[in-house]
Amino acid sequence: MAFESTPFPFTTLGVVGTGAMGRGIAQLAAQAGLDVVLFDVQLGAVKEAKAFIEGLWERSAEKQRITFEKAQQYSNQLREANALTELADCDIVVEAIVEKLEVKQGLFSELEGIVSTQAVLATNTSSLSVTAIAAACQHPERVIGFHFFNPVPLMKIVEVIPGLRTHSDVTHRVTALGEAMGHFTALTTDTPGFLVNHAGRAFGTEALRILGESVTDPATIDRIMVDQGGFRMGPFTLLDLTGLDVSHAVMESIYHQFYEEPRFRPSPLTRQRLSANLLGRKTGEGFYLYVDGQQQMPV
Ligand code: NAI
Repeated sequence: MAFESTPFPFTTLGVVGTGAMGRGIAQLAAQAGLDVVLFDVQLGAVKEAKAFIEGLWERSAEKQRITFEKAQQYSNQLREANALTELADCDIVVEAIVEKLEVKQGLFSELEGIVSTQAVLATNTSSLSVTAIAAACQHPERVIGFHFFNPVPLMKIVEVIPGLRTHSDVTHRVTALGEAMGHFTALTTDTPGFLVNHAGRAFGTEALRILGESVTDPATIDRIMVDQGGFRMGPFTLLDLTGLDVSHAVMESIYHQFYEEPRFRPSPLTRQRLSANLLGRKTGEGFYLYVDGQQQMPV
């Protein structure tokens, strides 16, 4: 059956991958009035994500930012899925799984056999080609990039990235969804790193070069970028927040997609730290040490 776009609003949004990004997307979607279905391959991850999101709403209610009734209503909109097939009634699915092309392609092609022919498949990829992810689908016109930033509720921007074959109605509907979720939507073309991660290369890669040349330490570079550069956070704090597993994959992907353009060359420092599992906040150690979630001096 042919793909037929339907008008906004979406009613049921599936989130596949309930890590740092997936849970933020789920939170905002529920707040925008959608029913949200959560799925993750890792045992216990969905329960943990649901409890995490509900904890945020509960604290908001305690601080009287929302009512307890509202917190309960949002919570009622979240549903746990134990299998991908339980996403069958979603009219949009957003994936926030591992940053690997073949894994994302495999997921979308499996989802096409589960969701309706009208459902939209959105990827939160930071760096992979949306067109390439869509190429594995029977209906690439339903596939789109919907790229949020970490932490999702605070970073109030989302890139909407149509692939070469994305239907324009899908782009309009997903843009409307991003706005309903309270974000500024930036429409970008499907180029490596899109807009933000392309511009951000200079910020992270150059900082890593400075560190590699032993000019100074991460804390000093971060301090200068915040105090003098006016950035909200320095490059090493950001790398630790994002997680080196994600950041390194993004750096390599953008470098290769630009045919080994030297200015995008990733730093050997990140590969080395990746091997040592110094991933950042998620492992308690990165460029900084984290004790009870608080950043300490660099290790
Ligand atoms: P994460 O590691 O916190 O979470 C990923 C989750 O996906 C994990 O719970 C994992 O169990 C699950 N997962 C992995 N493969 C799966 C599969 N095949 N099916 C179902 N679940 C699966 O990662 P994070 O940081 O949330 O990133 C996810 C995606 O979002 C990546 O594509 C990344 O590039 C993108 N992204 C990440 C940002 C960041 O700052 N961390 C910012 C913007 C985009």
